Amino acid sequence: MDREARYALIDALPKAELHLHIEGSLEPEMLFALAERNAVAIPFASVEEVRAAYDFSNLQDFLDIYYQGMSVLLHEQDFFDLTFAYLERAHADAVRHVEIFFDPQGHTERGVAFDTAIGGILRALDEGQARFGISYRLIMCFLRHLDEEAAFATLREAEPWLDRIAGVGLDSSEVGHPPSKFARVFADAKAKGLKLVAHAGEEGPPSYVWEALDLLKVDRIDHGNRALEDEALVQRIVADTQTLTVCPLSNLKLCVIDRIEDSPVKRMLDLGIRATVNSDDPAYFGGYVNTNFRAIADALDLNRE
Ligand code: ADE
Ligand code: ZN
Repeated sequence: MDREARYALIDALPKAELHLHIEGSLEPEMLFALAERNAVAIPFASVEEVRAAYDFSNLQDFLDIYYQGMSVLLHEQDFFDLTFAYLERAHADAVRHVEIFFDPQGHTERGVAFDTAIGGILRALDEGQARFGISYRLIMCFLRHLDEEAAFATLREAEPWLDRIAGVGLDSSEVGHPPSKFARVFADAKAKGLKLVAHAGEEGPPSYVWEALDLLKVDRIDHGNRALEDEALVQRIVADTQTLTVCPLSNLKLCVIDRIEDSPVKRMLDLGIRATVNSDDPAYFGGYVNTNFRAIADALDLNRE
């Protein structure tokens, strides 16, 4: 299949995006616009300067900038604008269904109410469904660098919104914060009828993926790259028909892989793993979902099958 035919196929394919942090879709232009609108000082003089700062050597490098970027999100309308802009981009990429993450603790920790964040996000998701026909689920993530009690407090704050939240996830700094730290709060979330997902095996070892499966009892694994280092774990993932939400350009930008040719997507599919392609934090990693598909289709010589 030549490149043009590949790109035409990718662009037209109806897609689901299952791994997208809405705060990671904050483009530098919107960062500046919201900084001005809300009179928030940011440590950048221009959009070019912001983009130049997006040069990461690992996950933590990125997270430091990602949390800093959130500082411009103050009002319900800000969360609406952020989310609706993402949905317009997703619509342009023929995305028909999204399951997006948000990080409430990234907002409540700096004094923005839980209701402000979720209210704006959900209003945009409803508008996106009405305007573009994009169906959605919302996943509330716990920040794993914070403690278990903070996660429990967040789950309590979510109580009035539980009919609008499909599941909980686990993100932020992985190494040193194993899934086991959140086993009890995930059990509570499950008891409340929520689906469970967790970032595991992005930078963390295969044992973290085992913990996500055995201790958190997740319905899906986010990333999961390092699962490939453990043959028994691969067998388990295949036997359980677990889905992995892989993020090729994220992996490249965060140095999880050295070259896009090292993306594990094709190896995973060949092993029988349900690997999906997603953009993670597209404003920071150089592209939305179609750009991710194009990058691996070229690098791994993928065809229609
Ligand atoms: N938060 C936003 N993007 C993330 C990623 N790729 N890994 C962990 N936490 C995140
Ligand atoms: Zn992620």
